[in-house]
Amino acid sequence: MTEIVCLGDFVGYGPNPKECIDLAVGLGVSLKGNHEEALLTEFEGAMFNDRAQRSLAWTRRQLSPLNPDREANVSRWTFLGALKVTHTEDGILYVHGSPRSPITEYIYPRDIYQSEKLHEIFDRFESVCFCGHSHVPGIWTEDMVYLTPQEVNYHYRLVKNKTIINVGSVGQPRDGDPRATYVLFDGERVIFRKLDYDVRATADKIRVIPELDPFLADRLLSGR
Ligand SMILES: [Fe+2]
Repeated sequence: MTEIVCLGDFVGYGPNPKECIDLAVGLGVSLKGNHEEALLTEFEGAMFNDRAQRSLAWTRRQLSPLNPDREANVSRWTFLGALKVTHTEDGILYVHGSPRSPITEYIYPRDIYQSEKLHEIFDRFESVCFCGHSHVPGIWTEDMVYLTPQEVNYHYRLVKNKTIINVGSVGQPRDGDPRATYVLFDGERVIFRKLDYDVRATADKIRVIPELDPFLADRLLSGR
């Protein structure tokens, strides 16, 4: 089993895009999220707010081949351009957004009340799907049950029903908890992990970059 799978959006809002890309290069599997797609295609106007567009424009400038670290930036673009949008391993599907729209579709807790949408999504994979994109961790089962990590005490044993797991977000959690969020998976159990780190130091880095909206620093501190 691949040791580490990154579900995308490792750039976009943060002050260390080069470092994040370089880390993603070394992982077992890294997938493309909507922010990497926007960097590559410049389509952000259609789907990003002004704040996100400005941070993407700044991120793009950090990665310019005209910068002194030209060679490193060229290989970063090559890596971004080769990112896959899905990964399947041992019958498990990994995507950034959703199985039917891997880069852009959100799966929300309220979707258990939109069974048509969720059934269409469940039809697109075999057993388990890991996703991100909403930045909020959670569990959806095919019988239209939604569970938060808290409701399962951060440990979830897979059932026979097909299951969607949102792994949350390392870089910008939005579940009210500023700690970095990710999951461990051994084929049977999903463990939601919360990792303390120096959130204030990252927020401070954001604040000194004029192109990054201070709101991006504030939201890190509140996990919203
Ligand atoms: Fe996303």
